[in-house]
Amino acid sequence: MRGRIPDSFIDELLARVDIVDVIERRVPLKKAGREWTACCPFHNERSPSFYVSPAKQFFHCFGCGAHGSAIKFLMDYERLEFPDAIDELAQAVGLKVPYENSRDNAPREDKTDLYAVLDAAARWYEGELPKSADAKAYCAKRGLDAETIARFRIGWAPAGYDGVIRSLGTNERRMQLLTEAGMVASSERGSKYDRFRERLMFPIMDRRGRVIAFGGRVLQSEQGPKYLNSPETPLFHKGRELFALWQVKQANSNLARIVVVEGYMDVIALHQAGLPIAVATLGTATTPDHTEVLFRAAPDVVFCFDGDRAGRAAAWKALESALPRLRDGRQAYFLFLPDGEDPDSLVRKEGKEGFEKRLREATPLSEYFFGELSHDVDMTSLDGRARLAERVRPLIARLPDGAFRDLMAQELEKRSGARAVLEQDSNARRTVQRPVAVQRSLVRSAIALLLAQPGIADQVDKPYAFLRLDKPGVELLAELLDTARARPGINPAMLVEHFSGRPEYASLQKLMAATVVGEPEIQRTEFFDALVKMEQQAITQRRDALVAKNRESALTDAEKAELRELLAARAPAPTAPT
Ligand code: UTP
Ligand code: MN
Repeated sequence: MRGRIPDSFIDELLARVDIVDVIERRVPLKKAGREWTACCPFHNERSPSFYVSPAKQFFHCFGCGAHGSAIKFLMDYERLEFPDAIDELAQAVGLKVPYENSRDNAPREDKTDLYAVLDAAARWYEGELPKSADAKAYCAKRGLDAETIARFRIGWAPAGYDGVIRSLGTNERRMQLLTEAGMVASSERGSKYDRFRERLMFPIMDRRGRVIAFGGRVLQSEQGPKYLNSPETPLFHKGRELFALWQVKQANSNLARIVVVEGYMDVIALHQAGLPIAVATLGTATTPDHTEVLFRAAPDVVFCFDGDRAGRAAAWKALESALPRLRDGRQAYFLFLPDGEDPDSLVRKEGKEGFEKRLREATPLSEYFFGELSHDVDMTSLDGRARLAERVRPLIARLPDGAFRDLMAQELEKRSGARAVLEQDSNARRTVQRPVAVQRSLVRSAIALLLAQPGIADQVDKPYAFLRLDKPGVELLAELLDTARARPGINPAMLVEHFSGRPEYASLQKLMAATVVGEPEIQRTEFFDALVKMEQQAITQRRDALVAKNRESALTDAEKAELRELLAARAPAPTAPT
């Protein structure tokens, strides 16, 4: 079982990783002064309000407020859980995550054992394939070569009711895991048996190459449903996963185009033919989640469907889920295949070149869009053109604000003569500008300034004089100073990460995100000014308290002396130490 990740490791990791690198690999960044900027990947916008600060090792979007460290970015962008984001970052810089062995506080969400049991199942099926003459003959008939079988980890689930159970479900815990992973079905009388029997097995892997589910195909079509997929499990949500995305990512470090087809065998045939750019949805329609994953993998997405009625219906569904994701720079195309063909049969007939030619000639979304919506209206009549406008407007409104949406609106105007004035326009254009600097309390200012350059903590004298001030945040400031002093060279993101899991974490992130204006030297001066002012406030606070007490009751001798001193105390000069 995977244990806790020690804080010191997260420190080391954040010190090694450069957030600009991490983000740049996923979202192209432009230099903007000392920072890097891009259109925000977390909301739709036309001009960039997403900033990455190398100095703070922090990202922040002034439009939607998204912000955080490299870890947070990976969690949000790749939809990873915390330990997986750590894992991914560690891999990128060649570190190994040292899990602490603490049984009692191991996270409940730990799925390591589930992954392990699915991997073992895949290995077991792979081992069974060479033992079955029928399965081998079928693979040969479908033209699968050994390299492809290995790359896709294709296997064979033999006949019998308990092959997997007998090999892998050797104790109660393992049976429980097999069940949770969707590998076991139960009869009405409660007896358990292998879900997959006498099927050619296709492991479904996640974006990181881990087996999360299976699809299994019968060898002869009369043996029940042609394909059987794993049920939804804690690891497998078919509306989010794409078959072979892992293999696509392995084969291409920089992908310009990704192709979505309907079947397992279509994907595999295309990869084997030298087009390792194909993925498939898993027996479901294309969801908006799929579309987002696709566009993150490549700027151009080609949706490939049968030319029949069902294929056309599926294509329109895909178009609808693509619309809200069509930011500038992303393009969708539609490829309809001739009757009776699928990508598998076509690429075997026409070869890689033939299929590539079809891909190049795929219909751009805009053309397919207007073609579908106007095929049954009479564009020569005013009425028909109004009908078209009526159909098109709500769909264009679903496009994100941007040049592509403008083009579609223009196209509608050209075709129908109607203006595509969109009600949502004002809403969509609420692109938020940098907020006016919020008036912050002294303590908050000091914290924000410290977060901007934790190195200044070294120059603050101990004991901290400002601790006498009775205001919220004072203790936190002292703790931040102590943490920063204890770790020379700590960067802002690391400092804040020390407070993850604490109630202060969110507000620290916000404070860090708030741009601290000015040169580092000026910020430093402001920081020490703030500390001095806090000290002055502490003095005033104490003096006022003593004066008030004096009015109500007598002061002790010690208090009288203190008050005399406080009244005499002159404000310390607001200068920074040198
Ligand atoms: P197809 O019936 O078009 O099969 O289903 P195919 O991919 O061409 O398969 P072969 O060439 O006959 O082997 C397309 C996809 O729909 C899902 C599978 O994902 C399949 O790859 N499907 C199909 C199921 O989930 N269950 C089924 O019973 C059939
Ligand atoms: Mn087929």
